[in-house]
Amino acid sequence: MFFGMKIFIFVPNENKYINMCGIVGYIGKRQAWPVLVEGLRKLEYRGYDSAGVALVSAPGDMKVYKSVGKVADLERVVAGKDTSASTGIAHTRWATHGEPSTVNSHPHTSMDGRLALVHNGIIENYAILKQKLADKGYVFSSSTDTEVLVQLIDYIQTEGSLDLLTAVQLALKEVIGAYAIAVVDRDNPDVIIAARKSSPLVVGIGDDEYFLASDATPMVEYTNKVIYLSDGEIAVLRSGEQVRIVNLDNVECSHEAQTIAMNIGQLQKGGYPHFMIKEIFDQPECIADCMRGRLNADTCSVVLSAVNEHRERFVSASRFVIVACGTSWHAGLIGKQLIETMCRIPVEVEYASEFRYRNPVISPSDVVIAISQSGETADTLAAIELAHSRGAFVYGICNVVGSSIARATDAGSYIHVGPEIGVASTKAFTGQVAVLLMFALSLAKETGTISSEEYTSTVASLDAIPDKMRQVLKQNDYIAGMSRMFTYARNFIYLGRGYSFPIALEGALKLKEISYIHAEGYPAAEMKHGPIALIDADMPVVVIATRSPLYDKVLSNVQEIKARGGRVVAVVTEGDTVISSLADFSIQVPAVPECLDALVTSIPLQLMAYHIAVCRGLDVDRPRNLAKSVTVE
Ligand code: G6P
Repeated sequence: MFFGMKIFIFVPNENKYINMCGIVGYIGKRQAWPVLVEGLRKLEYRGYDSAGVALVSAPGDMKVYKSVGKVADLERVVAGKDTSASTGIAHTRWATHGEPSTVNSHPHTSMDGRLALVHNGIIENYAILKQKLADKGYVFSSSTDTEVLVQLIDYIQTEGSLDLLTAVQLALKEVIGAYAIAVVDRDNPDVIIAARKSSPLVVGIGDDEYFLASDATPMVEYTNKVIYLSDGEIAVLRSGEQVRIVNLDNVECSHEAQTIAMNIGQLQKGGYPHFMIKEIFDQPECIADCMRGRLNADTCSVVLSAVNEHRERFVSASRFVIVACGTSWHAGLIGKQLIETMCRIPVEVEYASEFRYRNPVISPSDVVIAISQSGETADTLAAIELAHSRGAFVYGICNVVGSSIARATDAGSYIHVGPEIGVASTKAFTGQVAVLLMFALSLAKETGTISSEEYTSTVASLDAIPDKMRQVLKQNDYIAGMSRMFTYARNFIYLGRGYSFPIALEGALKLKEISYIHAEGYPAAEMKHGPIALIDADMPVVVIATRSPLYDKVLSNVQEIKARGGRVVAVVTEGDTVISSLADFSIQVPAVPECLDALVTSIPLQLMAYHIAVCRGLDVDRPRNLAKSVTVE
């Protein structure tokens, strides 16, 4: 139940920032509810677990409706109720702070019910602000940071007898963190105040009416004139009046409205043709978000609250057993190497589906690590149950807050990469690896099995990893061009050693999943025990051959392949000349410490799988026969 507990309390070093909540607002002459509910539906692609709306129909008359579940569930709650209003704000919530529940859903209201606010982002200093407000007599009903912000605005406004805009400006000056917000006042239906910092917010300009949303998708059917708010800007929306945009110091900001030409599908995918490619490109930001509040670059340290709170349990573990499925299992293989290398504690990695049925030897001194993007995989859940029945402590690594696995584990860390829509896992994989890295580093510090120089330099390199990932992504065009050559390939072999072996497996899995080309991943040295018999001009071989102590051995493998007429795609370290000159195609990745290699070498393989599948005209985001969340055996 650790995840379940954790999300109700403030854990400073677990702050998370990325958040795909959806905001919609409307003020004008139409009925707001139909615009808002349609808007929420258009934002469903962002992923969410609850939804809510606040409608202001006349001074003193505000209705707030909320529901856990889908937008359709909210509609059921609203059915038959009074929805007449021309001003309203609505929200879909992807829980990061407080479990998915009606009380934690947005909009949140001030204690007296006067102000309602929706928020996307995180207020990092909310615990301090909450305490200050509690001392003034404010009572809170949810465990969210958002409720603190709306109460803070109310407090500032009431104390100073200020107008709402000034109160919002002063409140936001007190806030550390990220936000896109929209606020309405029960006593004044004629205005919506919206603001952003680090989370997106778009104002749509209609005919005497305004739309507001996290992206332009909810408004394209009404207008193509939009203003993308910049960080630190506040929009004051009044029906029939020119939109006013100011900063926190009330200085006017000038903005030309832009005309959007994209259709809804393109907008939802951030302008990319598929979710998968968007998610591949999102990875630098996702990994930065995953590390935010955990990795401190100034002090060169990493703190995972799970390790802090259960230090004794982890430090005294006689063994770790990682259970997972699919891509998460590949992340587990990397986790094994990281934990064994840095913490000197033995680690086994098991397919959850095998583990659960083979009467494994598990004792109370073992720590089981369950890795799951969705947090719902049936086999992984069953493996956790089994581990518990043998007295083991279970630590979870999940993306979905409040998911079944998050609730079933004793401790855990969320990866915080935002919802992954493409069925083939990309950003969730690198997020899992990033969490495993932070886990191994924090634990190694506790076990004293890492030198302070290595710890510091690895933390510094991890801090720089988003930029390294950006450098890899710059090769997208080259990889796309190269991938065309493999459109009609029927088989592929992927080879790697050490940290690169799981990447070979993951690269092969990506290709299988979305291009339906048969691909196998092998430890490079195993090639001579079978796969070498397959090598010919029709068997492309992808070799992960970055600089490592085993480089020369991988070089020999490449020579063996070339000697048999094979075609080689090599992923090499920038500046490499030896393997690059032998390979038919080489993709350069920046030099990083070997233990971080997976975070850069996985990207070209994701891109390659993506482009080959596109060339084959396949449905990249929804490959045949596969499911994003496998809740059955
Ligand atoms: C499915 C998905 C994979 C995922 C696997 C495990 O097969 O298509 O992308 O790796 O399940 O899912 P989990 O949610 O437990 O990581």
